[in-house]
Amino acid sequence: MPINPHGGGELVDLRVAAAERAELRARAEGLVKVQMDAREYTDLELLTIGGFTPLEGFMTQDQCKGVVEEMHLPGGVPWTVPVVLGTTTETAARISDGDEVALVAPSGSIAAVLHVESRYEVDRADEARKVYGTDDGAHPGVAALQAADAVRLGGRVRVIELDPGEFPKYRLEPRQTRMEFERRGWDTVVAFQTRNPIHRAHEYLTKVALEQTDGLLIHPIVGETKSDDIPADVRMRCYEALIEGYYNPNRVVLSVLPASMRYAGPREAVFHALMRRNYGCTHFIVGRDHAGVGNYYGTYDAQVIFDRFDRDALGIEPLKYEHSFFCKKQGGMATDKTTNSGKEDRVFLSGTKVREMLQAGEAPPAEFTRPEVAQILIEAMRNGS
Ligand code: ADX
Repeated sequence: MPINPHGGGELVDLRVAAAERAELRARAEGLVKVQMDAREYTDLELLTIGGFTPLEGFMTQDQCKGVVEEMHLPGGVPWTVPVVLGTTTETAARISDGDEVALVAPSGSIAAVLHVESRYEVDRADEARKVYGTDDGAHPGVAALQAADAVRLGGRVRVIELDPGEFPKYRLEPRQTRMEFERRGWDTVVAFQTRNPIHRAHEYLTKVALEQTDGLLIHPIVGETKSDDIPADVRMRCYEALIEGYYNPNRVVLSVLPASMRYAGPREAVFHALMRRNYGCTHFIVGRDHAGVGNYYGTYDAQVIFDRFDRDALGIEPLKYEHSFFCKKQGGMATDKTTNSGKEDRVFLSGTKVREMLQAGEAPPAEFTRPEVAQILIEAMRNGS
C-alpha cells in the first residue's frame, strides 16, 4: 500500500483543466498583478504539483498563525514553516478580500490566479524567533523574511501554467515518483534531502538507510540556496557520477525538489519530511544539523523536534543518524556509536577547508569524498562556479 499524502487526503493539483486555461489567462490579464520573487515561485510550483499537500494556496493569517505558534495547521495537520506570498503596501491597497489577483512569475509570465481570502501583516521579529530560533539578520532565512514585501496575501490558487524548470529529466512530480516506486515494487522508500554534493558521510547515511528499506530517493533541493552553496547544476553532475560509480541503480531514484532552502534547522527538517511523504516516501533521513546554518542550532535539534509530533499525523518515519566520518582505525565509515577511535583517527574537514582545497585544484582525500565527485567540483571551481 503506498503511503497516503500528508493530511490523509488526495494529492493536490492546482492546475486548471486545459479547456479552462485560455479563459483564465484572458481574465488574469485584467486583474491586479502581484509579482512573485524566486522563492515564492518555487513555493507556487510545490503547491501546484502537490508537494505541499494538503495546502491549496498561500497561507491565510489563521494558517500562518497556527504554523508559527503551534507547528500545526488549523485542523491539526503538522506544518512547521510558513508558505506565504508577499506584496507591497501600494499593491495591497488596490486589493479587497474576495478579489482575484494575477500571480506573475519572475520570468514575467502570468502563472496563476489567487483568490484573496486574507491580507495581513506579521511581527517579523517574533515570527523569525519562533520559526528560525533567532531574529539575527545574518541568518539567511531571517534575512529573506526581513527583506520580503510587507503585506501577505493568502488564499486558494488556480494555476494557468508554470515555466518549465531546470533538469526536466529529473523533475519528477509527487505523482510521478509514486508511480516510479510502484513500478519498481518498492513498499518502503527512504528520502535523502541535500543541498550539497554527496560526500562519504552523506553516502554512508543513505546506504545504512537503504539496508532497512526497499529503495532510496536522492532528492536534492534545487530552488534558491545561499550564494556560497554549490550550484545545483554542478551538484547534479556529482550525483550522477556518484550513483553511476557507487550505488545499485535498481535501488536508487534521483529526482529534484524544486524548493528553496530556508535554513530553519529543526522546523525545516519536519517540513522536508512532510514534503517527502507527498512524494511517496515512507522514511526520511535526518543527520547532524539538518538544514542548519552557522551555529544557530544544536547538532541534533532537528532530530529531537520529531518527538513533538503525533507519529500517525506526521505519517513519515524519521531515520536519525549521528555525525558520521571515515574512521582510519576501522578502515571505514563510522559514528560515535560504532567506533572507539580518538580524534586523530577521524577524517574531518571543514566546509571552508574543502573549498580551499578544491579551489587550489587539490582533491580532498578519498576518505572524505569520492575522486569522481572531487574532479567535478575542481572543474566547476576552475570554470568559476
Ligand atoms: S541540508 O541543509 O540539506 O540538511 P546537507 O546537504 O549537508 O544539508 O545534509 C543532508 C543530510 O545529511 C542532512 O540530514 C544532514 O543532517 C546529514 N549530514 C550531513 N553531513 C553529515 C555527517 N557528517 N554526519 C551525519 N549526518 C550528516
